[in-house]
Amino acid sequence: MATKRAIGLDIGTSGVRAADVSLARRPVTLEGFGQVSLPAGAIRDGELIDQGIVAEALGQLWKRAGFRNKKVNVGVANQHVVVRAIDLPQMEEQELRGALQFQVQEHIPMPVEDAVLDFQILDEYLTESNERMMKVLVVAAQKDMVSSVIGAVTQAGLDPVGVDVTPLALVRALGERGGALGETSGGEAIIDVGAGITNIVVHEGGITRFVRILLIGGNQLTEALAAGMGVSFEDAEGMKQRVGLASAAGAPPSTESAPRILEDRAASYVDEIRGTLAYYQAQAEAVRVTRAVLTGGGSKLANLETRLADALRLPVEQGRTLQRVRLGKLGLSESQLADAEPLMAASVGLALGMAEE
Ligand SMILES: Nc1ncnc2c1ncn2[C@@H]1O[C@H](COP(=O)(O)OP(=O)(O)OP(=O)(O)O)[C@@H](O)[C@H]1O
Ligand SMILES: [Mg+2]
Repeated sequence: MATKRAIGLDIGTSGVRAADVSLARRPVTLEGFGQVSLPAGAIRDGELIDQGIVAEALGQLWKRAGFRNKKVNVGVANQHVVVRAIDLPQMEEQELRGALQFQVQEHIPMPVEDAVLDFQILDEYLTESNERMMKVLVVAAQKDMVSSVIGAVTQAGLDPVGVDVTPLALVRALGERGGALGETSGGEAIIDVGAGITNIVVHEGGITRFVRILLIGGNQLTEALAAGMGVSFEDAEGMKQRVGLASAAGAPPSTESAPRILEDRAASYVDEIRGTLAYYQAQAEAVRVTRAVLTGGGSKLANLETRLADALRLPVEQGRTLQRVRLGKLGLSESQLADAEPLMAASVGLALGMAEE
């Protein structure tokens, strides 16, 4: 039975965030959103390092946001979870469920016996020699990593009814499923610029085709700046947010004090994203990516959008999670909402995932 109300929980490097969504009618209603920051080191490379600190932050979050529902769908994104589109001989879903662990080992970088597996059948097709095949999106997550997340959530007195891959949740929150003019053609890349990780997803009309989780994010820019300027992380963070990037690669920095080191680090970051998408586009059956959408706190970096548009040679815009939902009584001002919007996509998409169960 479809859930009427769901909470999506996003445990990020810089904080825990939850979105309480009522799913009864479309568009869905965002009834509540809250976040509590985490101290440095509680999460590293998207992985939970300090279960106690995270559990405590979750407790605070529930208290502060006044959430009564304790059931959550929690997201994971780190190097111990992979999503791969693979080709298999056509078979029934039931049959695939039984055979999955024997079929996927060569495609995933971890022993299947240590992994929780899940899948989605994307397409069925005929090869040139008339073999019936199917394309399957396989998700593999390391059991120990999933257990540690579940551990923190249960320690906070919450009930983790689902664990989901954050990039797939982003597609639910932001993926265009055909606009007012009908189906939008081609693929869209969603780029979630976090503090410690960057999620990259390509989808076509809401169907995920490619996922990569990069272990790099906005904090690396801050760290480079702190090291280069000989200032604290906090000071560097303030400077990064004030100054931003120059409007084009190679252009003079926006102010006298805008340091070259930030530009250099950002340039290699942008290049890594470009390389990841180029790798996907080089695959024979890749859908052509025609645009990109940004989300995550790091996407607020001034001129990052322009720099990505130049590097990718694509139109790039900011993802608008709030345009897809009705707004409940969130108790946030216009400017607070605008500020929080890039931080909401993951948790809203995780809540939406519970509608599909
Ligand atoms: N105004 C701003 N300008 C530039 N960068 C910003 C701005 N606001 C936030 N950031 C950056 O956004 C990043 C945090 O983004 P976000 O909150 O989405 O990450 P997270 O979800 O906590 O972490 P992750 O997903 O990587 O685990 C930090 O690196 C921070 O420096
Ligand atoms: Mg994040």
